[in-house]
Amino acid sequence: MKLMNDNVIIFDHPLIQHKLTLMRDKNSGSKMFRELVGEVAMLMCYEATRDLPLEEIEIETPIAVTKSKVLSGRKLAFVPILRAGMGMLDGMLNMIPAAKVGHIGLYRDEKTLQPVEYFNKLPTDINERDVFVLDPMLATGGSAIDAISIIKKSHPKSIKFLCIIASPEGIEALTKAHDDIHIYCAALDERLNDNGYIVPGLGDCGDRIFGTK
Ligand code: PRP
Ligand code: URA
Repeated sequence: MKLMNDNVIIFDHPLIQHKLTLMRDKNSGSKMFRELVGEVAMLMCYEATRDLPLEEIEIETPIAVTKSKVLSGRKLAFVPILRAGMGMLDGMLNMIPAAKVGHIGLYRDEKTLQPVEYFNKLPTDINERDVFVLDPMLATGGSAIDAISIIKKSHPKSIKFLCIIASPEGIEALTKAHDDIHIYCAALDERLNDNGYIVPGLGDCGDRIFGTK
């Protein structure tokens, strides 16, 4: 785990880096790509939940009564940004099945690169929850900024943004718009190209997950 600054954490774990290389490879097909997104999300979940509080309870093993630790009543919500964020959801839920799930539908207009909202359904008790926003790609940052602005209207306890690849432009824009959230990513790439794609990146993540191109 590498700290870029207090709010940006880059996961340099060898397993995450290995899987990310396979994801970047244009010869990886949809089935493999989808599985990798889920596996990387699961590994990121493990790291991004390091600060969850624990409490001690008494249990009985087959051998003796003992005190042992469990997660202490912290309520979580996962909010994938449609579509590509859905690829990360199962990996997160595998680790924390009790989390509630919200969805925010945004797509980037191909010409303006501005996000367009088309769906929004959040858990009704989101104000009692710590929220993890999921989207594999942070490019211009527009989609993440809008999604987080929408979620903030419901006053969650905290927000973390988990992406797989970030651009320097996206990190800068998101940090400027929301300086109170933590951003976790598996890689910080070089730059955006003229079409707003991350270089070297992995191409269009939604299309690669769902095989739509
Ligand atoms: C992709 C990606 C992000 C967004 C990132 O989604 O999943 O949501 O682009 O770009 P930005 O940081 O410049 O906003 P896209 O709009 O292609 O929609 P999709 O997931 O439905 O394919
Ligand atoms: N969205 C993607 O899926 N890929 C990029 O490189 C940029 C935005």
